[in-house]
Amino acid sequence: MLRKFMILLAAISMGMTNVTLVFAQETTSEPLFEYSEINHPVIGQKGMVASHNALSSEITAEIMKNGGNAIDAGAALGFALAVTLPRAGNVGGGGFMLIHVAKLNKTIAVDFREFAPAAAHQDMFFDENGEVPAMDTSYRFSHKSSAVPGSVAGLAHIVEKYGTMTLAQVLEPAIRLARDGIIVTYDLAADLERSQRLKNNPASLKKFYKPDGSNYKVGELFKQPDLAWTLSEIAQHGVDAFYKGSIAKKIVADMEAHNGLITMEDLASYKVIEREPVRGTFRGYDIAAIPAPSSGGTHVIQMLNILENFPLKEMGPGSADALHITAEAMKLSYADRSKYLGDPDFVHVPTDALVNKEYAKTLAGKISMDKAMPSAEIAPGNLAIYESDETTHYSVVDSEGNMVGNTYTLMFSFGSGVVIEGTGILMNNNMGNFTLRPDIPDAFGLLGSENNLISPLRRPVSSMSPVLVAKDGKPFLMTGTPGGSKIISANMQMVLNVLEYGMNIGDASVVPRIHHQWFPDELLLEGGISPDTIKLLRQKGHKINFNKFSSGMGSLQSVMEKDGLYYGYSDPRRPGARAVGVE
Ligand code: DON
Repeated sequence: MLRKFMILLAAISMGMTNVTLVFAQETTSEPLFEYSEINHPVIGQKGMVASHNALSSEITAEIMKNGGNAIDAGAALGFALAVTLPRAGNVGGGGFMLIHVAKLNKTIAVDFREFAPAAAHQDMFFDENGEVPAMDTSYRFSHKSSAVPGSVAGLAHIVEKYGTMTLAQVLEPAIRLARDGIIVTYDLAADLERSQRLKNNPASLKKFYKPDGSNYKVGELFKQPDLAWTLSEIAQHGVDAFYKGSIAKKIVADMEAHNGLITMEDLASYKVIEREPVRGTFRGYDIAAIPAPSSGGTHVIQMLNILENFPLKEMGPGSADALHITAEAMKLSYADRSKYLGDPDFVHVPTDALVNKEYAKTLAGKISMDKAMPSAEIAPGNLAIYESDETTHYSVVDSEGNMVGNTYTLMFSFGSGVVIEGTGILMNNNMGNFTLRPDIPDAFGLLGSENNLISPLRRPVSSMSPVLVAKDGKPFLMTGTPGGSKIISANMQMVLNVLEYGMNIGDASVVPRIHHQWFPDELLLEGGISPDTIKLLRQKGHKINFNKFSSGMGSLQSVMEKDGLYYGYSDPRRPGARAVGVE
């Protein structure tokens, strides 16, 4: 308080009237920012959006400025990213949203995950010898690798139930961008340059490359007329166009022509599921996140529960002791994930037990300060980073207190690489999130159990989960990230950095992250952790490996409301992202 008063006096004496104003409205609460912080969030007066695409963030902020709420804006952003960030933004994939509806004072988990087509079966990806298929076969890049998409239903669901605009209105920016074109950014040009496999599918080649097959260059105009048609059909005829009408017919015709499994019945039976968020607490704050079939929320809370038993702040952020304890908590939690997670509509998922504080205490009791626990012996396998994987997360908050966090995906960068002829729709390859056999790790090296075998209509276990932090019942931080298996550890470290170490959301996003998923038994470190610390971690028995792609450690997109102002931060780990305030 005294410090703030002194800053105010200093600002006045320096003639900094703007600064004076900012500090003057803040006399009873925490300061807006500290000059000791390095990464300063964007500040907005009336709302905030953080996403992986700067243009889409700008458009979304504009929607809120013109009276749309965060739910309208969140749905519009989901459709816009399908145009501007085609590697991950999508209409042919699925995901999970966490929305806070201010007028109901209610937080809802919206499950719009894909499900396995009715004709899917447990052995569908094994070859005739019962062997695991190679990574580039039908398992990954084929019509068969697509599960039934949920994105259109999910985005329409929130705007129709909790928004103030029509579905056609929230689709308008996406239609415009697809029809009139977008200027190719460095990020998009680089994406398309390294994703030459897209040329294997004729409709994909036509969509993403020039008529002569060459790459689009930075600054050129990139139009997606087929996608504009698809989005316009949805605007005119509602979600039925996608799930029962003109678009459904094209999807099914393409599936039939290429051994895909998705039928008209599959599409017509797609349902968005509203679920009760999984909830927990950490140091007096409330946490809400996505429950099964995502593992994301359950295990963020489980890890925080374990970590609450240790004086991490005293150990110091980034210290070998704190990193060691954090890694051990990750290991214990990912081990449970492999065994217990599945689609709760098909198998029993013991969520309450997994997030129980007493259970966490027993797990914490297993952690030694001096020695890393070796991971259990299991069938060997490597964490297969086949290529740059992609998903995307965005967070939106408005001045009424509505919030949207959405993590949605095509699974891999550009999904299956299959574009449905005549629609511009790039299809997911999320069938790859099922467990082929309990001893076979998935694309992210994660093991699963019988609970996650391929089965008709089942939703594959996910790691995706936006996370909402509240204090005294009032939501204040929404965060989330892509990153496959690292989604859980990255989200957890974000919450830990803010709540345990007191960092602002900028510093909390930027400081180096670690990751241990129990199998393989390796502690992944980002650059920026000091050699002395690494030496101490090795002495405790950690098998250290270095994460080669910073993007692989997630990319947090966070918004925060504090004392009537809005803060946003886009993780710098992936280019092209931006937080934009609403003024
Ligand atoms: O649901 C999941 O957990 C995965 N399909 C997410 C994939 C992902 O995050 C890839 N992005 N980096």
